[in-house]
Order: sequence, then C-alpha cells, then structure tokens
Amino acid sequence: MQRLDIKTFKSIVFFTGAGMSAESGIPTYRGQGGIWHEYKIEEVACQEAFERDPLRVLQFHELRRQKVLECRPHAGHRVISDIEKELDNVVVVTQNIDGMHQFAGCKNVIELHGSLWRLRCPVHGVWEDKGEKYTSYHCPHCDRWARPDITWFGDLLDNQVIVQAEEMMVRADLLITIGTSAVVWPAAGLVQVALQNRVLSIEINPKATSVSHLYEQSIRGQAGQVLPELLSWK
Ligand code: APR
Repeated sequence: MQRLDIKTFKSIVFFTGAGMSAESGIPTYRGQGGIWHEYKIEEVACQEAFERDPLRVLQFHELRRQKVLECRPHAGHRVISDIEKELDNVVVVTQNIDGMHQFAGCKNVIELHGSLWRLRCPVHGVWEDKGEKYTSYHCPHCDRWARPDITWFGDLLDNQVIVQAEEMMVRADLLITIGTSAVVWPAAGLVQVALQNRVLSIEINPKATSVSHLYEQSIRGQAGQVLPELLSWK
C-alpha cells in the first residue's frame, strides 16, 4: 500500500462508525454478530422503549458499558490520536458511543450519537457516569429515570453537535471514513457534504458500502491494519 503523507492537509476529518471499534472487540450493529441481530431496536434503543420499560433499556446499555470496559483501543485508534497530537486541525467525527477514541487519547472528538458514559434528565440535564454499573438509575436531583445521553432511533441529533460536524465537513480537505455502513442519516449525509467539496476522500472498510464509489480511494481492509500502513505524518 502506498503511504499517504497527510501533514500538508489543512483540515483532516476522520469519520468513524462501529467498524472502527470492531478489532477492539466491540460488536458492530449490522454485520455478522451485529447488535441489531441479537436485540430489537424497538425494545432497547428508542424513547418509546424507555418509556415502556426504562430498567430494561438501562440494563441493555449497562451491558454495553461492561463490554466496552473489557476492550482496549487498537493500533488504528492510536494512529489517529498520535496524528491529532502532532498536527493542527484534526477532528474525529464519530457515530460511536463507546468513547474508544478518547480512551486512546483523542481530545477533538465530535460524538454524533452521544455517549454511553453520560446520563440525562429531561429537567436537570446531562451528567457523566463512567463505571461498569450506573451509579443510579435515577437523576440525582429528582426522582425521574435517568436516560442514556444517546441518540436513539427516532431521536433528533443535538443541533449544536450537527452544526459543528457540518462545519468540519465543509472545511475538510482530507476525509478518511472508517468502519461505517453509511446507512444511518443524518450522519451519512455529513459525508456527502465533504465529498461534494472535492476533498481527498478515502474509505476504509473490509466490505464495499453503497457509497464506496463516491470515494477517490476505497480500501478493503481492517482499520487497525490499514491506518498504520497508510498514513504518515512526521
Ligand atoms: N475495520 C473497518 N471497518 C469494519 C471493520 C474493521 N475491522 N469491521 C467491520 N467493519 C465495517 C462493516 O463492514 C460495516 O460496513 O463497519 C461497518 C459497521 O456498520 P454498522 O454496524 O452499520 O455501524 P455504523 O455504520 O456505525 O452504524 C451507524 O447505526 O445503529 C445505529 O446509532 C447506531 O451509530 C450507529 C449507526
């Protein structure tokens, strides 16, 4: 594989999905062994499910937290965090809620779909809760059930977050998309913004996606192997 020297780019966006965390041991959503084959979205990942059975939904997310805490960032995560330390104008826009980029040391991460490590009360707002188990299933200020601060199916994305991500996509002159099936909107639409701006665009995924042909380069491979082989930045 020919190395790409990325230090001359002015604004670099890594756009990541569940496949980015796959080699760390965190299951993806749709492929083989995907979470949505084992669980029903309408039972664990939407507001209606939470209103019907909050404990079930919270326990599902608690299981996911336990799983993530057993996992570690891989070489691909480390490459991105090394690049972020070395170069200005590097941002990770991720659909992942697992925090694995931050565990690898990344600071500049836009979490489109929220985080497993935050809870939220409709009245008292958002707070961090990072243990294996939730400290409490209820808001510390009132008796309401605490909701994972995650964008579930049917939820709107946080407007501030989407505006910030769009700005990065407009500005990007290098887009590297890793490990997403690119079927969930509006996240998938963000990529189109960058692609329309004629940035250098690269997709890394072991399988072709419905948008592979839109990229200048679509590399069939695993994030943890391709990223260290592809990028040079010193
Ligand atoms: N390296 C790179 N890509 C990989 C790897 C790997 N090691 N392993 C799997 N992939 C690819 C798969 O081929 C697939 O295209 O990662 C992609 C994972 O796709 P999805 O499971 O659909 O995950 P994602 O695109 O992140 O899902 C988007 O859907 O369920 C919602 O909110 C959830 O954020 C999620 C959104």
